Amino acid sequence: MSRTFCIAPSLLSADFARLGEEVRHVIDAGADWIHFDVMDNHYVPNLTFGPMICQALRKHAVKADGTKVPIDVHLMVQPVDALAQAFAKAGADIITFHPDASAHVDRTLQLIKAEGCQAGLVFNPAAPLDVLEWVLDKVDVVLLMSVNPGFGGQSFIDSTLRKADKVRKIIDASGRDIRLEIDGGVKVDNIRRVADSGADTFVAGSAIFGQPDYKAVIDAMRGQLAA
Ligand code: DX5
Ligand code: ZN
Repeated sequence: MSRTFCIAPSLLSADFARLGEEVRHVIDAGADWIHFDVMDNHYVPNLTFGPMICQALRKHAVKADGTKVPIDVHLMVQPVDALAQAFAKAGADIITFHPDASAHVDRTLQLIKAEGCQAGLVFNPAAPLDVLEWVLDKVDVVLLMSVNPGFGGQSFIDSTLRKADKVRKIIDASGRDIRLEIDGGVKVDNIRRVADSGADTFVAGSAIFGQPDYKAVIDAMRGQLAA
């Protein structure tokens, strides 16, 4: 199956004092999606941004030719439902959540899709994949965490590659168009290995926003993916 690769810079490592500008710069540099990490100081020990900031950024997430760039909202919150709906209304295009944070995973997926968004499940490094089998028909994205959620700049956990290989097989067997996204510790020097494990969508925070030239990093990532 031929795959188009998608690079999703995480705003977690952007300059929070200039978020609109950062979104525009990283889109000019070639970002395919904008990854928006929502942390609630409950599900994870950190606190980031809410739906009002997503709404304020929506108008900045547009390419020079006017094409909308998807905002990929990664909810690290518990409970999930009310915030998922609030983010849908705030302009999110994709909403992913951790199944262990929702009491009723199938219902949460239905809520997100009823709002017109794509829906996804996020699996922590030590989380099993079992729920996936039962809701695959409602999932547009599977996001595998390659770090423990809560912070940017951590090292990639290698067991994610084996898990990605498993999920790739599940997706291919389903025949559905489901993105396999990897989040945490993705850099120019490991993105090829991550793609080889079956991933097609790559979140990168510190690797991109930690460098002065975002385009150079994204180009180097695409170079690795094309190799
Ligand atoms: C971690 C977040 C990630 C994080 C990735 O909880 O979900 O999206 O920003 O950051 P890097 O790429 O620096 O590991
Ligand atoms: Zn994330």
